[in-house]
Amino acid sequence: MQTLILTHATLAAMDPSGPWLLSDAAIVLKADRILWSGPMADLPPEHREAESRPLDGRLVTPALIDAHTHIVHAGHRAGEFEARLEGASYEEIARAGGGILSTVRATRAASEDDLVAQALPRVDALLAEGVGTLEVKSGYGLDHDTELRMLRAARRIGEERPVTVRTSFLGAHAVPPEFKGHPDAYLDEVCLPALRAAHSEGLVDAVDGFCEGIAFTPGQIARLFDEARALGLPVKLHAEQLSHLGGAQLAARHGALSADHLEYATDDDAKAMAASGTVATLLPGAFYTLKERQAPPVAAFRDQGVPMVVATDCNPGSSPLSSLLLAMNMACTLFGLTVQESWLGATAHAARALGLSDRGSIAPGQRADLALWDAESPAELVYRLGQRPLHARIHGGQWCRS
Ligand code: NIG
Ligand code: FE
Repeated sequence: MQTLILTHATLAAMDPSGPWLLSDAAIVLKADRILWSGPMADLPPEHREAESRPLDGRLVTPALIDAHTHIVHAGHRAGEFEARLEGASYEEIARAGGGILSTVRATRAASEDDLVAQALPRVDALLAEGVGTLEVKSGYGLDHDTELRMLRAARRIGEERPVTVRTSFLGAHAVPPEFKGHPDAYLDEVCLPALRAAHSEGLVDAVDGFCEGIAFTPGQIARLFDEARALGLPVKLHAEQLSHLGGAQLAARHGALSADHLEYATDDDAKAMAASGTVATLLPGAFYTLKERQAPPVAAFRDQGVPMVVATDCNPGSSPLSSLLLAMNMACTLFGLTVQESWLGATAHAARALGLSDRGSIAPGQRADLALWDAESPAELVYRLGQRPLHARIHGGQWCRS
């Protein structure tokens, strides 16, 4: 198997055991793995003869990981954006049958091919800024066939583009109109059977839910999580986004990979998440779009040592955002993360939110998923708005155009 050495790199490895930034670095790749990385002067003699590519000082980071998206969906909700500008709230729009349910109508009417075709431009925007792993949720079907169709479309994205897709079953995203007022019946008759069917088709990597006044109660989410456990699937949860309902602690009690949003989370929630190893996924695109006032308790997460993740939440309602670099900028500007925290949130910590231990940092044995940038430092990439200085991306050892 061929060995390739990237030389004269500026390395931001996102590996806590090494330096934050290393100039004049080399990275040795073999097949789809990283074999070695470090100062060029320390390059082991056995690699010195291998094919090398000089990077002329370019910055190299792990490929980015977007750990929370609803990128597969049909249509858009620009009209709701205008309604919110005139004063309507996200919850009012949802209770009037718009919001998530408006995208459910469009998604139910779309074929699998349509869903893939509509998602790809958004996916391509993420890949063009260095994303190599993408989480994709269902949750705009809310019926058996459409939930499975969304997940098949998500899997196809991973076949049509050089990106790893991890799916989350989000059947408990909203109560569909045909079960209005009967969330438990929806869970028993549609959501849980659809989860079992999707799992038996190999379509589910994790199970997610929305714990909120306009969605499901903690008790209902607990039933979903019990089913996930019976199927051997990890869980995660949209929790404490618009109000505090106890979702974060429920997620922690179930050993969730992540709790997401968390604007209304408390210090006790952070403690419970630290104890269970549940990471905090921050979604500043939704905070910004909904003009939220309360920021998530970043200081408590820091104090408790809860790893923070930053993701786009790319969806047609609360976060029509397909730029992870912009999400990182917003996490710094709106939530007070440091540049380093925002980078760990889109690399090493994001891998944890997906239960992946083979990526997110540049270290021996990790997947060769790298982003090569026309930039001098990680800070430069977070500070610029709307520029995509990606030079190239390497996915599983393969050189990609984006
Ligand atoms: O993550 N919070 C719930 N779900 C999505 C919003 C989905 C939508 O509005 O279509 C979110 O923000
Ligand atoms: Fe979401």
